[in-house]
Amino acid sequence: MVIIMIVEPKVRGFICATAHPVGCRENVKRQIEYMKQLGTCDGPRKVLIIGASTGYGLASRIASAYCNGASTIGVMFEKESNGRRTATPGYYNTKAFESFAHSDGLYAKSINGDAFSKEVKEQVIDLIRNDLGSVDMVIYSLAAPRRTTADGITYQSVLKTTSSDFTNKSWNLKDNTITEATITPATEEETLATIKVMGGEDWVDWMNALADAGVLADGAITIAYSYLGPKLTYPVYFNGTIGMAKKHLQESAAIINQSLEKYHVKAYISVNKALVTQASAAIPIVPLYFAILYKVMKRKGLHEGCIEQIGRLFHEKLFSGTPVLDEEGRIRLDDWELRDDIQQEVMEIWDKINTENIKELADIDGYWEDFYHMFGFHFSNVDYSQDVEI
Ligand code: NAI
Repeated sequence: MVIIMIVEPKVRGFICATAHPVGCRENVKRQIEYMKQLGTCDGPRKVLIIGASTGYGLASRIASAYCNGASTIGVMFEKESNGRRTATPGYYNTKAFESFAHSDGLYAKSINGDAFSKEVKEQVIDLIRNDLGSVDMVIYSLAAPRRTTADGITYQSVLKTTSSDFTNKSWNLKDNTITEATITPATEEETLATIKVMGGEDWVDWMNALADAGVLADGAITIAYSYLGPKLTYPVYFNGTIGMAKKHLQESAAIINQSLEKYHVKAYISVNKALVTQASAAIPIVPLYFAILYKVMKRKGLHEGCIEQIGRLFHEKLFSGTPVLDEEGRIRLDDWELRDDIQQEVMEIWDKINTENIKELADIDGYWEDFYHMFGFHFSNVDYSQDVEI
């Protein structure tokens, strides 16, 4: 049944309950145009992207297709419209990406299901075997709230500290006031659960499953995304539950390198910039840091979104000769964010920001623009008064 309606944003806290299909298509189109204009790269041509429908994973899929000319298989966990509600943005993004890729003569298929499950891994392996033979790059870009393991246990990730309470300034997104937020410490069980969900165990499982099935090309590369951030957010991020999971992710790269050495597989961690995505908007205290960071980086002409970050990953860090790594073997796309001059300015603003000056000192409009764009809203060339098929 075709359902047609006018779709408006319904924002609740850090989430929008609706998504606009035409606006999501516009979002994907703009990212494709950006990639096309960067030109081509000599990178892998058969790419599996796990978490391919929004944020960094979507940008990675677009870069694979439009820089490398790659065939892409995307895995995501998105909701279709139920007739009353719209689908999730990642659902519309994926439809749009596939239609652009197909009309540009590129292979693109997607599997919408739980990437943590054995069933989805098997479906993906069958698809690779039937359509591509093998993949030569695997991008792991999952951001998930929970994971059910093969034994039926469900683990829930939490965004908490791992030591004491952490209290700092926080931006109340509802009324633009600066308040204080306190993030409480996690129990050991909660920390372990977060590592189960956001650590590298499932990444290793994927790589082993692909290798065991004989669908991982010799010399394939794999990359997962991480974040470090400034000292300011260390208690909630780097030293928090999510940071513990990211440490595990990093250790998992070493495990993959070791266990798949016989296939000459190389695993990388790319440390990316803080950006507004569905996953990151949920972390307390962090959105205020983002809004200040956006202000400072835009003023210096250094601001990037997901697509610019991944464009730089492909063109400057990964496929322009030997990969550019730091002393710990990681790719650093957070190099500009963590530059001393940027961080110094951010910290100066952090100290003096309050409800009266927030609009002047932080990029509130930029934050919300990214937020609305994520759900397909606020594109000036989309007519939101028109009925659309959801
Ligand atoms: P996002 O929320 O935009 O994307 C998450 C993706 O995972 C979506 O495609 C979603 O459908 C998929 N997904 C979630 N649960 C799934 C499941 N059970 N099965 C299959 N697919 C599932 O998130 P974002 O921000 O792009 O994050 C991707 C990675 O990048 C994460 O590892 C995150 O920690 C990392 N990162 C994010 C930064 C940020 O500021 N947003 C900064 C640096 C790293």
